[in-house]
Parts: sequence; C-alpha cells; structure tokens
Amino acid sequence: MLVTGLEILAKARKEGYGVGAFNTNNMEITQAILEAAEAKRSPVIIALSEGALKYGGRALTKMVHELARDASVPVAIHLDHGHSYESVLRALYAGFTSVMIDKSGEPFDVNVAETKRVAEAAHAVGASVEAELGRLAGVEEHVAVDEKDALLTNPREAQIFVERTGIDFLAVAIGTSHGPYKGKGKPFIDHARLVEIAKLLGPDYPLVLHGASGVPQELVQRFRAAGGEIGDAHGIAPEDIQKAISEGIAKINTDTDLRLAFTTRVREVLNAEPAVFDPRKILGPAREEMRKVVEARIDLFGSAGKA
Ligand code: G3H
Ligand code: 13P
Ligand code: ZN
Repeated sequence: MLVTGLEILAKARKEGYGVGAFNTNNMEITQAILEAAEAKRSPVIIALSEGALKYGGRALTKMVHELARDASVPVAIHLDHGHSYESVLRALYAGFTSVMIDKSGEPFDVNVAETKRVAEAAHAVGASVEAELGRLAGVEEHVAVDEKDALLTNPREAQIFVERTGIDFLAVAIGTSHGPYKGKGKPFIDHARLVEIAKLLGPDYPLVLHGASGVPQELVQRFRAAGGEIGDAHGIAPEDIQKAISEGIAKINTDTDLRLAFTTRVREVLNAEPAVFDPRKILGPAREEMRKVVEARIDLFGSAGKA
C-alpha cells in the first residue's frame, strides 16, 4: 500500500529501527525491492533520482506507482536528490508520496528559503519532505579538523534549519559519501556529531543517512573475478549502520549495493553462458541477486516484521 515517507519513518524512529530507501531505475530493480520487502514483511521506500526519471520517464513512474499500490506492505515513493522546485512539482504531480529537495550546495540562507518553498508545496498535497544540510563529499583523512567541520552538518544549524523549513526528515552529512569508495575500510562515521544533532532535534525526529551502502566484499570479489574493474571499494560496516540507527538515523539510502549485485550477476551469467541471448535469462538472475541484497539490508536495519 502506498503511504508517505513520514508515516514509515515516524514509526521507525519511535520504535528504534531503520528503513531502507532503495534506488530503482527499471522493472527488475523495483521487483527485487518489493519482493524482498514483502518476503520480510517490512516497510520500504522506493527512491527515484532525477537521473532515474530521465532514464525511465513515465513508464518507470507509472510502473512503480502501480506496483507500490498493489504491495502488501507500506511503500513510499520518494524523489531522491531533487535539485529544483520544478523537479519536485513534477514528482508530486506524478504521485510521489515523498520528496527530497537538495540545496546542500547553496549557502545556508538560500538552502533554507528554497527548502521552505518546497516543503509548503509538498505539504499542501500531503507528501513528506526531506532536505540536506552539510556536504556529502566524503571527508578524507588528511583534511584538517576545521575544514572537516565546515563540510559536515553543524548540529545547531540543523536545529535552526528544521525549525525554519518545516521539513519532515533531515539528511545529515556525518562522513559518508555516495558510491563504492568510502573510508578505506576503517570506521569513519562521526557518531558524536550524529548524537548531538539527534539530541537537539528530539527523540522522535527521523534522520537520514545517504551514502550508506555496505559494499559487501564478497560481491566486490565476485565482480572482479567476473572481469569487472573496481578499485579499493569499501562501504559502511554493518555495526556502524546499527549504531547510527540507535543514535537517530531512520532512513538508510542504498543504491551502490544494488548496482554491484546487478552488474556482478550479469557478468557472471554472460561469462558462464556465452550462448545466452534471451534477456530474461540475464536479467532474471540479476533480479534475484538484488533481492538477496535488499533482504540482507532489511535484516540489518531491523525493519523485518514491522509492516
Ligand atoms: O545519490 C544518488 C543515487 O545513487 C542516484 O544516483 O543520480 O546516478 O541516479 P543517480
Ligand atoms: P550509496 O551510493 O552508498 O548506495 O548511497 C546512495 C544514496 O545516498 C542515494 O541517495
Ligand atoms: Zn544520496
């Protein structure tokens, strides 16, 4: 059933578990996410980026909408990293129940003003709103402490930002970054900062972790063995994710792990069966591999059985 992002996340935060926001771009990814959520009886958020909307257009949004409505678990359809007011309006018109406006690259006052405008529009049609404060650049070890401090979310600013904009959940920059290269395998989430932000926003306020993929080493090795090229890839450790959930993170964004699962399996199938040319024999196993990843994430976040 289709619900708003806030309905899912308010309950998650209150009960102390996390909910995955998984990015989709096509039918197989969408099915993998929904099949996993239904098998685990978990609420789930399906995220579509502006790139996904450009790639899949109306075919993608209509399909996701139909499947989400038919699902036997709560599903929110969420715009991931909307960069403009117009982009958000298009998503709302297409039936999204949740939107993100990402003006984190702008000065604080501009971020506040633009985010507030989006929040008013989205709330007028009953959708929930996420925004981001701080830069998700991925903070290198050699970066000086004060420089690092300037990039990551400032707790006091976070409190003012939420008060002034009226957003429903806040994406925080606490050291993670998008993609498969994070932290060189060492713990690096700024937990003290997260705890401070959560303290100022209150015990019920849902926080969001972007760049949260685990980048499972087993998948990285299989990807390489199948001929894929990837550098020193590392994700967020499972213990770090669980700790972050206990400290206030309710929405956990995952895209890279699905991309890795999909492409690894496609490579393996094509290598093992050079004669295959039925797309279903290639995409079917990839869908299955992604479903396993989503199920493992749901178990890690603690949302199984919470639907
Ligand atoms: O945060 C970004 C997501 O991984 C979506 O990526 O913009 O390439 O679709 P994308
Ligand atoms: P990952 O690249 O770690 O999967 O993060 C995805 C994300 O934050 C989407 O908004
Ligand atoms: Zn993101």
